[in-house]
Amino acid sequence: MDKPTVAILGAGSMGEIFASGLLRAGWDRSEIALVTRRPERARELEYITGITTTMSLTEGARGRNIVMIAVKPKDVRAVLEEVDQVLKEDQTVISIVAGVPIAVFEDALPGVPIIRAMPNTPSAVDLGMTAYTSGSTATDEDVEKASAVLGAVGDTLKLSEDLLDAVTAVSGTGPAYVFLLAESMIEAAIREGLPHHAAEKLVHQTLRGAGALLAASEKSAFRLRGEVTSPGGTTAAAMHTLEEGGFRALIQDAIQSAAHRSRELGERASE
Ligand SMILES: NC(=O)c1ccc[n+]([C@@H]2O[C@H](COP(=O)([O-])OP(=O)(O)OC[C@H]3O[C@@H](n4cnc5c(N)ncnc54)[C@H](OP(=O)(O)O)[C@@H]3O)[C@@H](O)[C@H]2O)c1
Repeated sequence: MDKPTVAILGAGSMGEIFASGLLRAGWDRSEIALVTRRPERARELEYITGITTTMSLTEGARGRNIVMIAVKPKDVRAVLEEVDQVLKEDQTVISIVAGVPIAVFEDALPGVPIIRAMPNTPSAVDLGMTAYTSGSTATDEDVEKASAVLGAVGDTLKLSEDLLDAVTAVSGTGPAYVFLLAESMIEAAIREGLPHHAAEKLVHQTLRGAGALLAASEKSAFRLRGEVTSPGGTTAAAMHTLEEGGFRALIQDAIQSAAHRSRELGERASE
């Protein structure tokens, strides 16, 4: 399959991550168009990526195989009202907008195939996790083109749309949970007397190593944890404190809150 040409409408943090990832994956600058709404951001993007950046949504979207919508939920309506004039049925729209259902895009862009995706920020280092779902008019070919773009920055997983709020709460928001864990571990390490640079190095490499081990191993997280927990040992003492303090329940509540918020944002966007 030839590389699909791509427009990214709303090139903020995620848009820039995808643009840079596509370049790393071998896309030519001429195969990508970026759209933003502030001249200083356009200049910044051109400086960072070397990709031509326009402030016209219609100019950016016109004729591109894949049109990725990467604005915040509150800005989706305005974008759709503008691009519906130029988008055609042989183009494919990927929305990465949190919470906004495929129906909103299908109503605004009749006949245009829609893929709704939820990526995450580790896409910046090609270790992203993107779950996606396809709309009623998307063919296998549309899905193949879209997953080539989404898969350029990491792994992909196709799921039904009713699961995307949960995905948002788990992998979309997930990096923030890990960053908070890292901050907390670094603070605690410094309190235990480690110098700042040593605390950071120990924590960063431990999280990287544990993540890589978990991903590479056939053992479950539960089993890997069991293997480093000897009765009466240091890990057992730490696990006891975490369980007593409600760590597990807190993570469950946090994920539930994020999923709830994703549903709320979606309902607001559907009104
Ligand atoms: N960040 C994440 O971890 C993550 C993960 C998965 C999905 N998402 C979803 O991805 C989307 C983008 O998130 P983000 O963090 O990249 O947000 P962001 O940094 O605010 O990027 C959105 C960009 O869209 C631009 N924009 C808004 N309306 C526009 C218009 N009419 N024409 C052209 N550009 C327009 C904004 O311009 P201004 O700078 O002028 O506002 C901004 O640069 C959100 O819907 C979010 O839910 C984010």
